[in-house]
Amino acid sequence: MRTAETAGTEHERVIGDFYSEFPYPWHVTRLARPHDPGLYAALISQELGDFTHTRMPRDARIWVPGCGVNQALITALRHPEATVVGSDVSEESLRMCAAAAEQVGAPNLELREEGIAGAPYRDEFDYVACTGVIHHNPDPGALLRSLAAALKPAGVLELMVYNDFHRREFTAFQEATRLIGRPQDIWYAKRLAAAFQGEGLLAERLRAEKDDPDVQFADTWLNPCERTYSVAALGDLAAGAGLALEAPCVSPLGRALGTYMWEVPLADDRLRERLEDLDDQVRWQVCNLLLFDRSPLLWFYARRAGNPLPRSQEAARDRAFLDTVMTRVESEEDVWILGPSGGYRPLERPARAGGDPGEFHDVVALADGSRSMRDVLAAAERTPGPQALRRLRTMVSTPAFPYLVARHAT
Ligand SMILES: C[S@@+](CC[C@H](N)C(=O)[O-])C[C@H]1O[C@@H](n2cnc3c(N)ncnc32)[C@H](O)[C@@H]1O
Repeated sequence: MRTAETAGTEHERVIGDFYSEFPYPWHVTRLARPHDPGLYAALISQELGDFTHTRMPRDARIWVPGCGVNQALITALRHPEATVVGSDVSEESLRMCAAAAEQVGAPNLELREEGIAGAPYRDEFDYVACTGVIHHNPDPGALLRSLAAALKPAGVLELMVYNDFHRREFTAFQEATRLIGRPQDIWYAKRLAAAFQGEGLLAERLRAEKDDPDVQFADTWLNPCERTYSVAALGDLAAGAGLALEAPCVSPLGRALGTYMWEVPLADDRLRERLEDLDDQVRWQVCNLLLFDRSPLLWFYARRAGNPLPRSQEAARDRAFLDTVMTRVESEEDVWILGPSGGYRPLERPARAGGDPGEFHDVVALADGSRSMRDVLAAAERTPGPQALRRLRTMVSTPAFPYLVARHAT
């Protein structure tokens, strides 16, 4: 499948071969397609603070570069009226994705074997989702410039790179195996892991993960290349590519880890106010530093510097949420489950999209489309401060917590 035009850089060949030997992540256990085709576009707009649902069109053109095995298919199913291009340098990951797409049916998905470095797109996509990819390349800034060029001026980039504080033991081990002279040799890396009798953070993690399945162990401990960032360093990288970080994005992984709020728990009202007064990116960096290993994944929405739409801060998104009349997500979704020996099979009956809103059950129940969220919170006898309000907004109205949509939603 690889042609002269799509061959990419020498490193893209290395990383493509690595992820063809160790495709990661493996097939997800569950795939779903909502019956409301505009649901996830609306939820993305909402996470960006746009409760009119115009930022992300439901018939968007979407690019998922470095899509791996699942991400392009998950995206195509979530946005059935969009056209989705998934690209990767790993032939095997693309083959696995195509096989799954064939089983569930995703006519709006096109897969391309293509490196980001030489990708030809200009002002083309409404949405680009690139998560866990550019940090596996020696020049992530160059790739980010390709992603920025591919965005329409008002387009949205969903970007995730590794957080410095999450990766120290892994990058240290990767570097050590490279110096020992057996890079990307899983057998050798696992031998080193089994033999190592040290103590401390790295040793403990290694002991816990040394028997993980090869594909998982390889992605974490053996990667040919890994760069890591702080919020500030990512902000600089983005600025160098003509981009600006816009808003945090809660991923399913962030939700599962329980670390997705860019807030520092502080038992001091004045200090909390001081933090709230900071520019968002500075506040996220303070959180990054103080929360340290518990700080969230660096998973953000970014926009082109010349984006004509007004740019808001998180506090403005919270106010917009309070002013919005919202209603419970009622959409059902078709579901496919991965069988024990591979292959997806459909569930007989559709499932309810979203599931249980947990601690915000009362808020979701009271949001019946008849009054603003400010009035809903009053009816629920909740008077959240700024941090609690942000948490509430995040946990009821975003793609990771799909419980409420603005009333005019499709
Ligand atoms: C850790 S996986 C993440 C896959 C997917 N983005 C996800 O979140 O599930 C990284 C993927 O990025 C791909 N990749 C890395 N560098 C790339 C590049 N320069 N161009 C295209 N794909 C790349 C790899 O082949 C691999 O499939």
